[in-house]
Amino acid sequence: MNPNYVRIFDTTLRDGEQSPGATMTFEEKIEVAHLLDEMGVDVIEAGFPIASEGDFEAVSEIAKQVKKATVAGLARAIPADIARAGEAVKHAQKPRIHTFVSTSPIHLEYQMKKTQEEVLEIIAKTVRQARDLVDDVEWSAMDATRTPIDYLCQCVEAAIAAGATTINLPDTVGFSMPDEIREMFETVRARVPDADKAIFSAHCHNDLGVAVANSLASLDGGARQIECTINGLGERAGNAALEEVVMAIKTRGDIMPYMTDIDASYLTRASRLVSAVTSFPVQYNKAIVGRNAFAHESGIHQDGMLKNSSTYEIMRPETVGVAKTSLVMGKHSGRAAFQSKLAELGYELSDNVFQDAFVRFKELADRKKHVYDEDIEALVDENISTSSDHNKVVSLLVVAGTTGPQSATLTLNIEGEHHTVQATGNGPVDAVFNAIHELLPHEARLALYQVHAVTAGTDAQAEVSVRLEDEETGRRATARAADPDTLVASAKAYLAALNNLEVKRARGPLQSQEDLEGAARRGP
Ligand code: KIV
Ligand code: ZN
Repeated sequence: MNPNYVRIFDTTLRDGEQSPGATMTFEEKIEVAHLLDEMGVDVIEAGFPIASEGDFEAVSEIAKQVKKATVAGLARAIPADIARAGEAVKHAQKPRIHTFVSTSPIHLEYQMKKTQEEVLEIIAKTVRQARDLVDDVEWSAMDATRTPIDYLCQCVEAAIAAGATTINLPDTVGFSMPDEIREMFETVRARVPDADKAIFSAHCHNDLGVAVANSLASLDGGARQIECTINGLGERAGNAALEEVVMAIKTRGDIMPYMTDIDASYLTRASRLVSAVTSFPVQYNKAIVGRNAFAHESGIHQDGMLKNSSTYEIMRPETVGVAKTSLVMGKHSGRAAFQSKLAELGYELSDNVFQDAFVRFKELADRKKHVYDEDIEALVDENISTSSDHNKVVSLLVVAGTTGPQSATLTLNIEGEHHTVQATGNGPVDAVFNAIHELLPHEARLALYQVHAVTAGTDAQAEVSVRLEDEETGRRATARAADPDTLVASAKAYLAALNNLEVKRARGPLQSQEDLEGAARRGP
């Protein structure tokens, strides 16, 4: 193997899922794992099997289904944890047990209440136990960056002697700076006998915003595995973002002689999937995958971009799976630009509808600094759906609370006739959406569900956004609805999105990416 090959260890399903509120369902975890495997991730940390029955089930199913990547299960330095992790990954093509113990004085004194000698014994015993179960064992020194270097070297030596094949030195609390972490790896690798028998790994948290910089600096110190997550999800401020690590290595080959096996064209898709299943929005200006990452707003930048994209872009958007650069629509955009944007979004409007949409676009652009694709879709859909808005919410009664299943009794006006159904669900929103599904069966996938409070206070208007996607045609439709009752707003938004999707489906499959790029090259 090339000595500069960097293994990408994705921990979205473990550290990422530890982000408060980012819990994923069993099916969602399997979907994410498949995408990670397809995109070329070397190791998928699928979960923490001892944490719950659900975690165990997800790790074992991922272990069974994943084709190429190593599948790791996390375990504390406790025999029962290690046995459970071994059980969960045993069907993987390439199973790994990842076991960790704290090594810093603060953790030893306050959390573990153990001496350094006791921890050394624990390392030897638990790594040996893991090695009896699988050949691939990763050992992590939790809080490594706040551990005295001499003691850290002793721990690493004990782990390698007991059979660890990967040594992870995490910046658990995101405290380190790039020069320090590089030096830590250099020193440990130089001082520990047999250090060359293990792959060294960096696992950096982002508390001071330098997780990616620290991960890259670790490579200069000799690490050859980076632990990271899609969208930088993870405990507190998160982990190093996979997409940023991968693209930094790819883009700056002139000063970083490293490589990964990641197919970067999956990055945007992975980001969107993880954002949708965790309901964690991606910050607009997030590097690589934020919706502004390839958007140009100022006149000077747009001018440069139209002449040559390298004036203001260091990466091509297609490289990371974005169809093309977007020149942000605003009050300076003309008819031709608006027309080309509509074509890109898959609309073919008659002259009259186009003129009307253009006037309303200009009004909107006067009120709003940036007009995004979703705004244009909403603006046009609103126009189209008034004529086709034949399905409406008549009444909704929801039973929610601690004792499930929650249920929804929903009456819809469907093409002028009232239809009522009662459905249950995993929570009240799920019950409402299931009720709509029973009355209006469809194959659409819920790609986004977001709730915002429009005003302050417990009587605030809730604004709900729903995006549905139709896999067959590639069409998607977004709709928003507001109501003081969040569940009523949810039902209205879902129904409106379904109405819009029906209109779009009738227009046939969305143009392929090649068509769009061709249209973009031809210009407005
Ligand atoms: O941040 C950390 O130290 C961890 C370990 C379990 C590897 O997540
Ligand atoms: Zn972590």
